[in-house]
Amino acid sequence: MKSLRIFDTPTEVAGAVADRLAEVLAQHPRPVITFPTGSTMLPVYREIVARSQTGQLDLRGVQGIQLDEYAGVDDHTEASFRAWLHEHLLAPTGITAFHTLPAHDPTPAALASYEQVIASYGGVDLAILGIGGNGHIAFNEPGSPADSRTRVVELDRRTRQANERYWTDSDAFVPTRAVTQGIGTILEAREVLLIATGAEKAEILHEALHGPVSEHVPASLIRSHPHAEVLADAAAAGRQPSDSSARESDRLSA
Ligand code: PGA
Repeated sequence: MKSLRIFDTPTEVAGAVADRLAEVLAQHPRPVITFPTGSTMLPVYREIVARSQTGQLDLRGVQGIQLDEYAGVDDHTEASFRAWLHEHLLAPTGITAFHTLPAHDPTPAALASYEQVIASYGGVDLAILGIGGNGHIAFNEPGSPADSRTRVVELDRRTRQANERYWTDSDAFVPTRAVTQGIGTILEAREVLLIATGAEKAEILHEALHGPVSEHVPASLIRSHPHAEVLADAAAAGRQPSDSSARESDRLSA
């Protein structure tokens, strides 16, 4: 792993992600980028959208890749991750190329073909990730193999509880299964950026960064990636804002 960078606020974290995106776009005219969903990403996408709308960032060449999705959803499912991403990132920034997971009918052939398309793009340049309260990355719940590929998974009880807020329709309930890029798939990206904000992530982030590298805490597996970086706010890093040492980049080893 390359580094952990700690910022005072989620807004500053968002600015750092947008800055990194600007650098990636300066290097590649059509970068391949994996985008996550979740409340952590809201300020990040707000910042990216703001820069895009003021002409500071042109994302129209981005080839977006879906990271995870509920099994069984289609283009009309309001609580789907693809609908969420469309609303918060893709539509307002004009990203039209978005490679979705075969969530509606995740047959082995469709899952393999999803990965083949990524390979045909030349692989992922940047995988942006959140971290779940149980340490998951994408929907790779604790116990997911480090070499896992894109597949159907059962969701953890805690993950389903955390996602209940999105399924507000009285008839709808959080699906029990999801389709996710595997940990092996994710770690093939040339660069990984994991974002964590808020005190509720402090304990699991500490475990992921300082505990054993283990499939029990899937986020810890990113430490084996030479170009993985964690961007956290002070609360998630378990520090006080403006703690002078919090502004330093802590180098961590795998
Ligand atoms: P959150 O989700 O940003 O809503 O906390 C993160 C995740 O589960 O990966």
